[in-house]
Amino acid sequence: MREKALIIGASGGIGAAVAHELETHGWDVARLSRAMDGLDVREQANVDSHLGALEGPFQLVLMASGILASEGAAPEKALSHIRQKSFEEVFKVNTFGVAYVLGHAPKLLPKKGRSVLAVLTARVGSIGDNRIGGWYAYRASKAAANQLVRGAAVELGRSHKEAIVAALHPGTVATDFTADYAERHSTVSAETAAKNLVKVMLGLKREESGQFFDYAHKPIEW
Ligand SMILES: NC(=O)c1ccc[n+]([C@@H]2O[C@H](COP(=O)([O-])OP(=O)(O)OC[C@H]3O[C@@H](n4cnc5c(N)ncnc54)[C@H](OP(=O)(O)O)[C@@H]3O)[C@@H](O)[C@H]2O)c1
Repeated sequence: MREKALIIGASGGIGAAVAHELETHGWDVARLSRAMDGLDVREQANVDSHLGALEGPFQLVLMASGILASEGAAPEKALSHIRQKSFEEVFKVNTFGVAYVLGHAPKLLPKKGRSVLAVLTARVGSIGDNRIGGWYAYRASKAAANQLVRGAAVELGRSHKEAIVAALHPGTVATDFTADYAERHSTVSAETAAKNLVKVMLGLKREESGQFFDYAHKPIEW
């Protein structure tokens, strides 16, 4: 039987590319997104109705939804740029959305056999690695998502002995997400990022559950 994967945020640059990459590896891939299915991760009832309707279990689940700032806003360059609307929106998608999805993890993952649940957070969510400040809502929302990933790994480790739960940084990837910011950085294509992420996800070991890795499988400090 083919292994099953679920990509949440499959309309996004990275989510779509990972879904495609997994299919080339022979996986049976289920895709969920706001654009294609009306999934809105800001609303728990919405997440419950979409994820509750799925036929699992899935040997691989990737949470690839996320935003940098609310529509029409930009990530904060200074403390004085913090605005309630954008701050709340970023947390609703990047943190609350991850929590609502993780709430379904015990049912989505198989009780027996290896499985991986990965959440795309971001290196800039690392508190220890923050040396330049700024991007307050995005950084804090991803740091909080990392904490959720860690807690989920601890809990699932008790009931799903071979499950691996990890936070992953995909690199700086040329998608809509980075369109306004990437020109100052070197980027990789979504296809390259997907190949890197699939390699990491398929290579993760049980004892690495609850950790934070980059696209090259290098650990990132919290
Ligand atoms: N690109 C990078 O360089 C980079 C770097 C570090 C981390 N990341 C992380 O990687 C993830 C994917 O990024 P990407 O580059 O693929 O971004 P993207 O192309 O902009 O895709 C973002 C995805 O998030 C979904 N989304 C946004 N708001 C949503 C909501 N309220 N409910 C449900 N889905 C929602 C979008 O869905 P719809 O389009 O269907 O609305 C889309 O599928 C994000 O979590 C991001 O923080 C990206």
